[in-house]
Amino acid sequence: MGSGIAEVVARAGYTTIVREMDEGLLSKGRQRIEKSMAVGVDRGKMPAADRDAALARLTGTTTLEDFKDCDLVIEAATENPLVKKQTFAELDRICPPHAILASNTSSIPIIQMATSTRRPDKVLGMHFMNPVPIMRLIEYVRTLTTSDETLETAKSFGTSLGKRIIVSKDRAGFIVNFLLIPYLTESIRMLEQGFASKEDIDIGMMLGTSYPMGPFTLLDFVGLDTTLYIADVLFDEFKESRFAAPTLLRQMVAAGYLGRKTGRGFYNYAAGEQPPV
Ligand code: CAA
Repeated sequence: MGSGIAEVVARAGYTTIVREMDEGLLSKGRQRIEKSMAVGVDRGKMPAADRDAALARLTGTTTLEDFKDCDLVIEAATENPLVKKQTFAELDRICPPHAILASNTSSIPIIQMATSTRRPDKVLGMHFMNPVPIMRLIEYVRTLTTSDETLETAKSFGTSLGKRIIVSKDRAGFIVNFLLIPYLTESIRMLEQGFASKEDIDIGMMLGTSYPMGPFTLLDFVGLDTTLYIADVLFDEFKESRFAAPTLLRQMVAAGYLGRKTGRGFYNYAAGEQPPV
């Protein structure tokens, strides 16, 4: 997600600094961005000169201290509340007082990050969708403490990236995952119960409702670990059985079948299996 966010921000004309934990991760992220921009150029979405200018606006660092002159920071660290709270406290110390601090979390309440800073009025959620360069939405999350000014400034920024903005209150799942995760976990329950094959469920939703991907293809794309994490957050908050993670999902995550990123999820990509198209 981080590389996708950095790509769209640099493409929109902003000077962009990416912070990663080490040089190896920085270099991997840059390669991902270069590859994606090459696709953009090949598909006629951006002239080669714009790609070169965007890449020139993009630099990497391994220290948050380099954010001392930033106007906006978008955090996309691992989904661990403690890591996020510590990051926000550090950013609050380093960034100028006017800077807006946003989190790309898909599920952790934004108020936890906001209250780790001395500027809770300048903190909000900016939840991008995967793949970031293609998906046209950013879901914003406004906490009890986010000011009107922060929301309006962030909205102008999001619109300048070419994205459509929707605003949610600060509760688990926000808008998209509150609806998407039960749909995905119900699909897994359907498979678990032997109701239909994964291919037929995928084809059913693609051809029957024009979803671009069926649920199992999407699960593998999003990551089974990410889906399980969000399902658990939703269940913790609402205590409703519709949010409970299916056993099959939990077991697949335990087995390391996390989806495309590990070569195997519901489909076994490593063995040459492909979802229906
Ligand atoms: N830069 C710019 N444009 C690009 C690009 C790039 N790197 N790569 C592709 N494009 C453009 C293409 O040119 C094409 O444009 P046109 O429609 O104008 O021709 C468009 O993007 C689609 O590209 P593709 O034809 O390669 O892709 P596709 O049609 O096969 O669709 C997909 C791929 C967008 C991933 C589609 O399958 C899809 O929408 N899947 C569902 C994804 C989804 O649901 N994401 C959200 C997941 S949930 C989430 O992220 C939140 C969470 O917290 C879990």
